[in-house]
Amino acid sequence: MFTVKPKEELFDSTQAIVIGLYHENRHQQKVYQEINSALGEVLDEYVKHGDLSNDYKSVTKVYTLGRIEPKRIYVLGLGKKKELTRSSYLKALGHLAKELKKDRIKQFSFVLESFVSEQFSEEEVSTLLAEATLTATYDFPNYKTNNQKPPFSFESISVITDKPVQNALEEGHAYADGVNTARYLVQLPGNLLTATDLAHYAEHLAHDLGLGIEILDKEDLERLGMGALLAVNQGSVEPPKMIVLKYQGKEKWEDVLGLVGKGITFDTGGYSLKSKDGIVGMKTDMGGAASVLGAMEIIGRLKPEENVVAVIPSTDNMISGSAFKPDDVITSFSGKTIEVLNTDAEGRLALADAITYAKHHGAGKLIDVATLTGGVIVALGDWVTGAMTNDQEYYQSFEEITRWTDEPIWQLPYLPVYQEKVRGSELADLNNSPGRKAHPIMAGSFLAEFAENTPWIHLDIAGTSTSDKEYDLGPKGPTGVMVKSLAAYVLKGQK
Ligand code: BES
Ligand code: MN
Ligand code: ZN
Repeated sequence: MFTVKPKEELFDSTQAIVIGLYHENRHQQKVYQEINSALGEVLDEYVKHGDLSNDYKSVTKVYTLGRIEPKRIYVLGLGKKKELTRSSYLKALGHLAKELKKDRIKQFSFVLESFVSEQFSEEEVSTLLAEATLTATYDFPNYKTNNQKPPFSFESISVITDKPVQNALEEGHAYADGVNTARYLVQLPGNLLTATDLAHYAEHLAHDLGLGIEILDKEDLERLGMGALLAVNQGSVEPPKMIVLKYQGKEKWEDVLGLVGKGITFDTGGYSLKSKDGIVGMKTDMGGAASVLGAMEIIGRLKPEENVVAVIPSTDNMISGSAFKPDDVITSFSGKTIEVLNTDAEGRLALADAITYAKHHGAGKLIDVATLTGGVIVALGDWVTGAMTNDQEYYQSFEEITRWTDEPIWQLPYLPVYQEKVRGSELADLNNSPGRKAHPIMAGSFLAEFAENTPWIHLDIAGTSTSDKEYDLGPKGPTGVMVKSLAAYVLKGQK
């Protein structure tokens, strides 16, 4: 899809040429002049009449009227050099890619030097270009039997430069593919993505990228005593799975990061049944699992010298004569007993056993990702992920990465007063739902009981895992949030 071409090939056959225009360089750049003179000074004419904007995110289309082979020039305004951040740069490129998609431009030449600044090197811009174009223009598949529009994809993007940017492009490409993988999985309905299907998907990924894989089935879970995940599965005809993927980038299996993702393929709420409105959309309750799988895809492709274990507890949460009930007392894999007060607080149960299992696999640090609570949407809306930690320094290193990847998170408090509440069962060690008050924090605090002394970060993506409208870097629907941050933390963040 991406090819790197020397400057001499600028006017070669393609549908469009794309150039960037900063506020500072106005129109003096060499490529600008080259294109301008090839087009009989038409760009100067645009400038004269104030029609060629260098404002941030403006897109100007110029027709070439047969003077050169490419039929159009797209000029992307980038604003002031100093004001452009990595995240605003991504958004501008995503916006441009959406314009190209709208115009059904499938091949274009990207004039790299016009996008470079003191802050953004050829390599960085190339990575941003690949990531932004491929995430912004992603189309979900659908099941319509007629009027089927094939999903859009670019056929060829030529990056015009004499610099070797192939690896940088591949990096952005891998990130975009990881994000789109997660989006694709989250969009799949519960009947088409069961725990067994999710396990198959992980097996394919492991096979393609040479990752280690272990799938625990129902008998394994029973043998190991994973009573919390089993309880959630109890009402289902679909068997549960504990999915484990391993990426070993170091000689020895040490300094292992554990990524744990909630993989509830459909959440009815169980006997604490959701309302008829609240239940719609609960196919997305495996968003955390999807983020972890997307991140593992990137890690497996870019091969950092790090060790990562991914653990995904998967089942649906159903009702039947055999389903678990409020008031049940269950025993988790850790040995801790749990009084179930709300069967709709199922995510934390499944995750509890997964967190313990990640530690069994040597995880010395943990990040869990989960569509865990509706309350986090009330608190932070759908653009900021709720976060908690038991280790402030660890949290800060991750938070820095999320600013770089443009996936904002905000910390919720983890305090003894909340610990008391989750430990406040009269019958068991813990209770899974102390009530409505601060329930996103209660959910995180419950998970902390299983992380114990292991440094841990909790990410509640209930709000951010889907978007109710399209945005610069993606379509309406599942977002693939946290894929980039998890991968980037492994690839760049861990010192
Ligand atoms: N999967 C839901 C959380 C959710 C809600 C995700 C809305 C996406 C959109 C989770 O399992 C759940 O039901 N949480 C309950 C917790 C409560 C019972 C303490 C909630 O948020 O109401
Ligand atoms: Mn639930
Ligand atoms: Zn749920």
